[in-house]
Amino acid sequence: MKLAIIIGATRDGRQTLKQAKWVLNEANAMEGVEAELVDLKDYPLPFFNEPISPRYNPNRVIEPAVKKWLDSVAEADAYVFVTPEYNHSIPGVLKNALDFVTGEFNRKPATVVSHGSVGGARATMHLKEILSESRAIVIPQQVAFLGLHEGVNDEGQLDAELLANPYGPAAALKTALSELKWFSDALTQARNA
Ligand SMILES: Cc1cc2nc3c(=O)[nH]c(=O)nc-3n(C[C@H](O)[C@H](O)[C@H](O)COP(=O)(O)O)c2cc1C
Repeated sequence: MKLAIIIGATRDGRQTLKQAKWVLNEANAMEGVEAELVDLKDYPLPFFNEPISPRYNPNRVIEPAVKKWLDSVAEADAYVFVTPEYNHSIPGVLKNALDFVTGEFNRKPATVVSHGSVGGARATMHLKEILSESRAIVIPQQVAFLGLHEGVNDEGQLDAELLANPYGPAAALKTALSELKWFSDALTQARNA
């Protein structure tokens, strides 16, 4: 499984990077997973302003910065979106990036790792709907990291208490990644057939 871990926040001092590193470490420890971070900071995009919805525009002209982003997500078999909650939703930078997407997520599985005062639950609800409209297969298993950024260090390592909690984020991530792999293997096989 070629896994893209998309970092949904770009501001200086963002805490989401720590969570993304945590997901990256866990994913790359799994057999048959090749994971990498896709950092929206490396894909500075204009605000979406195409004259026609990209999905219905056969003559779409894609500017180089947008093409770089779309090519990068098109390469992956599966996605983990790591996002904070801003004003009960996802950050605008992530929504904007998703507005450019057309068929890149088609029939590929995706999940969400969110954080915030209520685990980023409201952001995740919005993101799942957006991803579904983007034709991704959103799997039920997800991770809601309760609290803002306590419990994970700059290298993406969880503290011992969270690691030991059978109902905590470590256990939830393990389940989500394993389900994502199952769906990715099945859907890749089906797409190739
Ligand atoms: C503009 C803005 C809006 C926020 N709104 C929420 C919110 O609605 N719910 C929440 O739980 N946290 C909210 N927060 C707190 C963020 O979840 C927290 O700052 C987190 O660290 C943001 O991720 P980041 O550091 O990667 O940007 C908000 C933060 C910002 C900057």
